[in-house]
Amino acid sequence: MQQARLREAIDAPFSVPFVHRLRFTRDALGADRQVLADVLEPTENRSARVQFWIDQNVLEANPDIRQRLYRFADSYDHLERTGNVQVVPGGEEIKNDIHILERMLKVFNAANLDRRSYVVVIGGGAVLDTVGFAAAIAHRGLRLVRLPTTTLGQADSGVGVKNGVNLFHKKNWLGAFAAPWAVVNDARLLETLSHRDWVCGFSEAVKVSLLKDAGWFEELCRDASRIGERDLDAAQPAIRASAEWHLRHITEGGDPFEMLEARPLDFGHWSAHKLEAMSEFALRHGEAVAIGVAIDTVYASLKFGFPKRDAARVLRCLSELGFPLDCPELRDVETLFAGLEEFRQHLGGRLTLTMLHAPGQPFEVHEVDRAAMRAAIEQVAAYAGGPRIPA
Ligand SMILES: NC(=O)c1ccc[n+]([C@@H]2O[C@H](COP(=O)([O-])OP(=O)(O)OC[C@H]3O[C@@H](n4cnc5c(N)ncnc54)[C@H](O)[C@@H]3O)[C@@H](O)[C@H]2O)c1
Ligand SMILES: [Zn+2]
Repeated sequence: MQQARLREAIDAPFSVPFVHRLRFTRDALGADRQVLADVLEPTENRSARVQFWIDQNVLEANPDIRQRLYRFADSYDHLERTGNVQVVPGGEEIKNDIHILERMLKVFNAANLDRRSYVVVIGGGAVLDTVGFAAAIAHRGLRLVRLPTTTLGQADSGVGVKNGVNLFHKKNWLGAFAAPWAVVNDARLLETLSHRDWVCGFSEAVKVSLLKDAGWFEELCRDASRIGERDLDAAQPAIRASAEWHLRHITEGGDPFEMLEARPLDFGHWSAHKLEAMSEFALRHGEAVAIGVAIDTVYASLKFGFPKRDAARVLRCLSELGFPLDCPELRDVETLFAGLEEFRQHLGGRLTLTMLHAPGQPFEVHEVDRAAMRAAIEQVAAYAGGPRIPA
């Protein structure tokens, strides 16, 4: 006892029991509405207070969705809708205007939302990131329920624990790790998505399959052109598998808040992030990831024995999905190489890149052979098998 009192340093590891709730529906506000109603749990002595937020472009493409939300909330005794449906600008615009964030906090405050209230957000990744961040900082965390409306959101970002906005002209400079209360991936919400945004979610799926599951990579190669044509029977399993792998990475991977040096899911991302910035964000994240995955795969084939045949299949799979693999930014290799140092800085330690010996066999490297990487970039840029970047 005496000794314990004298101790001047205490290191006590602890963990927090989070639950990640991921649901799949075909019509979350219609036939499957019980699924959404069930995750909005009432507290002991009070109904579940719910505020709805929606991406303006999703609302414009689905004009009846506001009424459907009201009908949904009104049809359950345990739900109490707080105020009107809140509409926010869609796309990156919302992440670039810090005043929108302040307005969100004002709306939460005016509705007296508390830590047991629910913010239900329906939208693309940009809207999810922003509303999610506002919900994470209000009262140090409201319950966030995400309904992603893009393939990228459903397959990737919507399942994650990152929220944030852009500041000082830097992507995601201001943000917080916060696990959502629940994520509902609804097939119907994808119907109005543009073709370009539809394609965008699947480069992350190819990436995850290459890292985690060679068998699933085979399936993606087989189904790529059907997915590119929006065949739901081919696309839904791919979205589902990608979302499930993300969930497992977060809940079982041992590093949900990215404290460690290695970021295995960032395969292909050192160049993807740089290409997005070099193109002034004309390239979408998913498009840049397709090119980045192609580059690092070809590099792995030049340096680490990744089978050449599989590398060719990765490129073909990406282009059958609908991704252009060439862009003008690939001609400026020196600027692109600055992306390596920026990636290292972002991680805050040594440069750590995930590489592949074969599909499903990742490992880490800490340096890059620039001559080989240049050759990989040239091979990808010269790949003529695919579509072109939309004007
Ligand atoms: N938090 C994370 O872990 C994470 C991971 C990857 C990317 N992101 C972020 O996600 C954002 C990109 O998200 P995104 O790819 O989902 O695109 P997005 O949110 O920019 O949406 C693309 C466009 O489609 C519109 N839209 C969305 N769904 C629609 C629908 N169903 N019908 C009609 N229009 C619709 C949007 O309003 C927008 O104009 C970026 O800001 C990126 O930084 C976050
Ligand atoms: Zn990504």
